[in-house]
Amino acid sequence: MKIAKTIEEVRECIKEWRNEGLSIGLVPTMGYLHEGHQSLVKRACENDIVVVSIFVNPMQFGPQEDLSSYPRDLASDIRLCEENGVDLIFNPQSGEMYESDFCSYVDMSVLTEELCGLSRPEHFRGVCTVVSKLFNIVTPDRAYFGEKDAQQLAIIKRMVRDLNFNVEVIGCPIIREKDGLAKSSRNKYLNEEERKAALVLSESIQLGKKILEEGERDSAVLVKAMKDYIEAEPLVRIDYLKIVDSVSMHQVEKLESPVLVAMAVFVGKTRLIDNFIFSISENRSDSFYTSENRS
Ligand code: PAF
Repeated sequence: MKIAKTIEEVRECIKEWRNEGLSIGLVPTMGYLHEGHQSLVKRACENDIVVVSIFVNPMQFGPQEDLSSYPRDLASDIRLCEENGVDLIFNPQSGEMYESDFCSYVDMSVLTEELCGLSRPEHFRGVCTVVSKLFNIVTPDRAYFGEKDAQQLAIIKRMVRDLNFNVEVIGCPIIREKDGLAKSSRNKYLNEEERKAALVLSESIQLGKKILEEGERDSAVLVKAMKDYIEAEPLVRIDYLKIVDSVSMHQVEKLESPVLVAMAVFVGKTRLIDNFIFSISENRSDSFYTSENRS
């Protein structure tokens, strides 16, 4: 396994692999890898070559957010990549990705205005910009993203379509702890009490699924039931809990097409997200990876 710090090193490796006719899968990450990332890497092994980028992208953090405290453990990330058959880690410094006079951004309207985009206004601009750069540097055939960041996944798919990136974007299911909490690098911030309280996210999802499977189609009723459940836990504060169309990200009142039920919740100071997809026609909850989102 190679570890590249510079764009030039990555390009040299990619050139050699391309000359050999090998296919390339990219797993973009911010490091502090857990089983969620591991599942992306495993899926990426359907390519001849697997590249993992590890870069805590400053551009996607707001001024009051946790950039400086974001958990990092490069030694453990390297070990996990090695154990899972990664061929190349791209681990640049910030200056390698952003020159001091950097001024070109990938900005998206519409899809970024809902959900996380409301409380993190600059976030998706940072994500789209860095992911575009990674696509240009690594030129992967396929790129893998977790469905836990459902809005991010929908935005990246749309960006790839709109800007004609020659890459297939593949969403991979949410990986959960045994008790239901979605795996996240930010779970590390939770103390014992908060870790217990954080279970209201996945529990409210179970409740939401049950209500929908019993036939409820009014989103206000569903949102209220889920919010009431979460708000009964005093350590928790809801940032948003919304039901949106799973492709357009627009809020829906009546549930008619596949919907994304998405939430962001502060547990103490830690902001966690979770979601599920509900497919009306089949009256069943699904992962985010629906045919419409596959484009
Ligand atoms: O999902 C993440 O970890 C990040 O948003 C990503 C896609 C690696 C871009 O920095």
